[in-house]
Amino acid sequence: MNRIFDKSWQRTSLCGRFTEADAGKEVRANGWVRARRDLGGIIFIEIWDWTGPIQIVFNPEAGEIHKLASSLRNEYCVAVKGKMRIRPEGTENPELITGNIEIVASDFLVLSKAKLVPFEVGDETDSVDENLRLKYRYLDLRRDKMQFNMRTRSKINAFTRKYLGEREFVELETPMLTKATPEGARDYLVPSRVNPGTFYALPQSPQLFKQILMISGFDKYYQIARCFRDEDLRADRQPEFTQIDLEMSYITEEDIMELIEGYMKGLFKEILDYDVQTPFLRMNYWDAMDKYGSDKPDLRVKLELCDVADAFRNSGFEPFRKILEDGGVVRALRLPGGADLSRKEILELEARAIKLGLSGLANFLYKDGALKGPLVKFLTPEEVDKVRELSNLQPGDALFLAAHKSRAKACEILGTLRLELGKKSKELFDDSPNNWKFLWVTRFPMFEWSDEEKRWVAMHHPFTSPVLDEDPSVMENDPANALARAYDCVLNGNEVGGGSIRIHDPEVQAKVFKCLGITPEEAKKRFGFFLEALSYGTPPHGGLALGVDRLIMLLCHGNSIRDVMAFPKTQKAQCLLSGAPDIVEDSRLDELKIKVDLPVDD
Ligand code: AMO
Repeated sequence: MNRIFDKSWQRTSLCGRFTEADAGKEVRANGWVRARRDLGGIIFIEIWDWTGPIQIVFNPEAGEIHKLASSLRNEYCVAVKGKMRIRPEGTENPELITGNIEIVASDFLVLSKAKLVPFEVGDETDSVDENLRLKYRYLDLRRDKMQFNMRTRSKINAFTRKYLGEREFVELETPMLTKATPEGARDYLVPSRVNPGTFYALPQSPQLFKQILMISGFDKYYQIARCFRDEDLRADRQPEFTQIDLEMSYITEEDIMELIEGYMKGLFKEILDYDVQTPFLRMNYWDAMDKYGSDKPDLRVKLELCDVADAFRNSGFEPFRKILEDGGVVRALRLPGGADLSRKEILELEARAIKLGLSGLANFLYKDGALKGPLVKFLTPEEVDKVRELSNLQPGDALFLAAHKSRAKACEILGTLRLELGKKSKELFDDSPNNWKFLWVTRFPMFEWSDEEKRWVAMHHPFTSPVLDEDPSVMENDPANALARAYDCVLNGNEVGGGSIRIHDPEVQAKVFKCLGITPEEAKKRFGFFLEALSYGTPPHGGLALGVDRLIMLLCHGNSIRDVMAFPKTQKAQCLLSGAPDIVEDSRLDELKIKVDLPVDD
């Protein structure tokens, strides 16, 4: 009779959930073989599933199945029947959750064999090459850490649905095959067979559809939405990723912030049993840039920037004076205890700053009761004092100075050094796993200048409302200083979410397009359907999207969002498991009326 997997072989418990209470009972276990050992004729194996291992003992007296057990290899999928017992004294393994018990096998079935595995699934060190892990992702996902990450992901989705559902949010799906939504990246395009020569764009976000849903009366919408962006990839960016995307009508910034603060409080309690303090710190964009040199400051690092321009305005140090006269800035980073840095370390730091875009990185060291450094000889004693005062420099500290025509650039460069220097020091950086520092960064600039396109582009997206209550004409007269009703949710230096109050008045929308250099004809062509919808009684509305992959990465203490996605892509946007993207047959291209015109290799 063929021995096949049927009810009589089905597990009576998950492997890691057997307990001492099962001792003496006939039990069945299903799982993968790992860690086989032969000890004086007795064969021990562990079989594993996501809950952990259970040890199986094959005694020589068991005859045929003992012989079978000796042919087992790692990752064979098996079913075992036997009697549970408490392990004999001295053979317990306190490191395993089931380390006090074992099953003495009475029958045994190989459900399927496994080829020699390319890496040990049981190896929880991170020594396996990532490309190999991605190629054999199904084996990689069997590992404990990946099981934990994916199951945490699932819990987060379940929590999200519960939290938003309880607050009367409606979960709605928006199309994947759609028109371009500008979020600052390139679109992935999909050719239409039935409309030759035309293309759908995969959504960079559901932005326009969720705003249309507000016009349709779904006053609280959300979606766990897949988004697609063809952009340069990094550890925190994937070409397809997931957002918790939401939108609400008749609200202000406060409502979104309170909603998200409550969400984070509940989520961190549920997943980590950690009490998040609310409300989060709120800081406007320029304060964040001036103080931390970043629009997503990592508040775990205890270093701040300062403005030392006043010491240089009339000074004899011409390069700085000139930059200030031309409207630039001189900013500084104080490093407590930094006066002990070696000459080599200071030179390395300067080389780094030059690489980041400064022409040099001046420094002062507070040593032997006085400020020392290459600029001292250009300054009066009063000006040196002013540097010390403005930076609050203390004996033993170092001060690094960045002068640049752009305030944002000077701040950003010092912001990078702030992180790099701070994260090296235990006193300046508390990286304990439960040190969570949330904040809201608000009032971003409405526009940023694109050197590439020679025009203003939207810093968030073109549907974000300008701040209109202070000076409504600033947008047209001085776009560089126009502010947006946009906000980002930042956690430990990561932008985990971003959103804004939207424009609900078609006239304001037209003005924003004008500032962006989008003509009415172009606006009509690209967003005509949306502009038309906007003119049918649009409620004031706003929303936000959380980058779920980033959030899960942080909650799982991971270093890359690839580790919290089941099937991520490489830096070159390839799926090593399936081999996508791939060429397609000519007949498929003919159907689509598409010709591929690749440059010929020399
Ligand atoms: P934004 O472009 O800021 O806003 O995106 C929202 C959040 O999505 C995450 N994110 C990404 N995660 C992984 N890989 C990527 N390539 C990637 N790009 C973005 C970030 C980010 O904070 N429609 C607006 C939201 C709104 O205004 O409501 C939007 O998409 O965590």
